[in-house]
Amino acid sequence: MSKPKVIVTRRWPQEVEARLQQLFDVTLNVEDKPLGQAALHQAFRDYDAVFPTVTDRIDAEVMAAEPLRARLIGNFGVGFNNIDVAAAKARGLVVTNTPEVLTDATADLAMTLLLMTARRAGEGERHVRSKSWSGWRPTHMMGTQVTGKTLGLIGLGRIGRAVAQRARHGFGMRILFFDPYPPAADVLRSLGAERRDTIESILAESDFVSLHCPATPENQKLMNAARFAAMKDDAILINTARGDVVDEAALVKALADGQIAGAGLDVFAKEPAVTPALLEMENVVLLPHLGSATRETRAAMGFRVIDNAEAFFAGKEPRDRVA
Ligand code: DGY
Repeated sequence: MSKPKVIVTRRWPQEVEARLQQLFDVTLNVEDKPLGQAALHQAFRDYDAVFPTVTDRIDAEVMAAEPLRARLIGNFGVGFNNIDVAAAKARGLVVTNTPEVLTDATADLAMTLLLMTARRAGEGERHVRSKSWSGWRPTHMMGTQVTGKTLGLIGLGRIGRAVAQRARHGFGMRILFFDPYPPAADVLRSLGAERRDTIESILAESDFVSLHCPATPENQKLMNAARFAAMKDDAILINTARGDVVDEAALVKALADGQIAGAGLDVFAKEPAVTPALLEMENVVLLPHLGSATRETRAAMGFRVIDNAEAFFAGKEPRDRVA
């Protein structure tokens, strides 16, 4: 029997590409250049499966390819807001993602941003590199203490819980959370997490607010001007979820007006573009969407796409089917 024909839209870790070559008739993207909408459209005509990443826009137009050969979209990423799932369903396409394997890496990065922003690490590093450092002194570059502070989590899914675990048991933080679908009581007990019924009450009480909700249409600009105004003026916002959950213009204004003290951002509304004012702010730490970027995690994500595809082509239900 001939192997399924699959296309991978970006470079993947070498060991995963090697496995893809064993299992499938695969087209790799050796140059690692984004395909663009026309090539994606063509891919749905020419391949049995398309393996995009979270930066490929798989919209209704792309999937309107005729005749449609593709049957599977194996997204390299847990978030799948890059895919028009309703349009995929309408075309009979199965969609899978890569949950679980990136939970720890993303939680580690949320803590990295929290610590960097609180302790002014980005600013301090720039200070040393620019040779401006004149030496230790008692009032130099004082940040804010992390240990024992209150962390408010918007979303207590897998990644939110992993952040809570680190913050609670590593830094003795008090954990508050908002989530319409909270985890079981024993999980909450182990995290010492206290539920709040509104986002506003989280914002009013938290020294750090970290976003761990999906980028659903309802969550677009969830952090807006009114919500920044509801935060404490010495609080810090951390975002490792998706850029469009934050109104970036409102964030800039809140930072400029001193409504909040800082922000640590790994994701942006129009990646790779970053709202220019953020680039100028010393109290903002900016990372280029590195949440899952460890060698181990990126390989695990690729293998997870492969597991799902193998199941699909064997006529079984893929474990991470989202549509
Ligand atoms: C995802 O998988 O959704 C991440 O954003 C990629 O790091």
